[in-house]
Amino acid sequence: MNEWLHNPKKFAEGNKMSFAGLPDAAERANLIVYLNSQGSNLPLPAAPAAPAAGAEGAAPETAALVGDAAAGEKAFAKCKACHTIDAGGANGVGPNLAGIYGEAVATGRGGFAFSDALKAKGGTWDDATLDAWLAKPSAFAAGTKMSYAGSSNPQERANLIAYMKTK
Ligand code: HEC
Repeated sequence: MNEWLHNPKKFAEGNKMSFAGLPDAAERANLIVYLNSQGSNLPLPAAPAAPAAGAEGAAPETAALVGDAAAGEKAFAKCKACHTIDAGGANGVGPNLAGIYGEAVATGRGGFAFSDALKAKGGTWDDATLDAWLAKPSAFAAGTKMSYAGSSNPQERANLIAYMKTK
């Protein structure tokens, strides 16, 4: 059920459910518990000893992850539709991301027209802010123009951040 709700297309290639899936693990868990309460009542697995990583628990969990810049460069392929990252690269659908790590959010970038939503966030791009942004842009800055659903994989996000640090 978890795999199906996460990515129906991957679970059963060619299936008829036109639903992209739920990247948020806590949301999937809540749904599964709800479905289970509707007459099936299968025994629930015991809760892990360590506090479960919910939406808010994501930061400490990822803080322990070590990003792999080479893997991040590969993962960046999906960002390239909208972003260049080498110094002097042009802005496209999204801004050029050279040197983005440690920079102010939605600032400069050759006059890129950021959304008011992202401009209103303020702050700088560090491990925590980039991780939250890449997990779900629309949750980090509701109304953002970055039409990217997010990466639900903490290791992939850590890799992407490690890669951006090298640029
Ligand atoms: C479909 C196009 C698209 C894709 C794909 C995309 N982005 Fe973006 N990105 C944007 C846009 C547009 C913005 C500006 C958002 C705003 O102003 O609300 C942005 C903004 C950003 C910013 C903030 C830049 C700043 O100066 O504050 C970062 C960091 C970023 N994207 C990283 C990524 C990464 C990493 C990926 C791949 C995992 C990615 N984006 C995928 C379009 C995209």
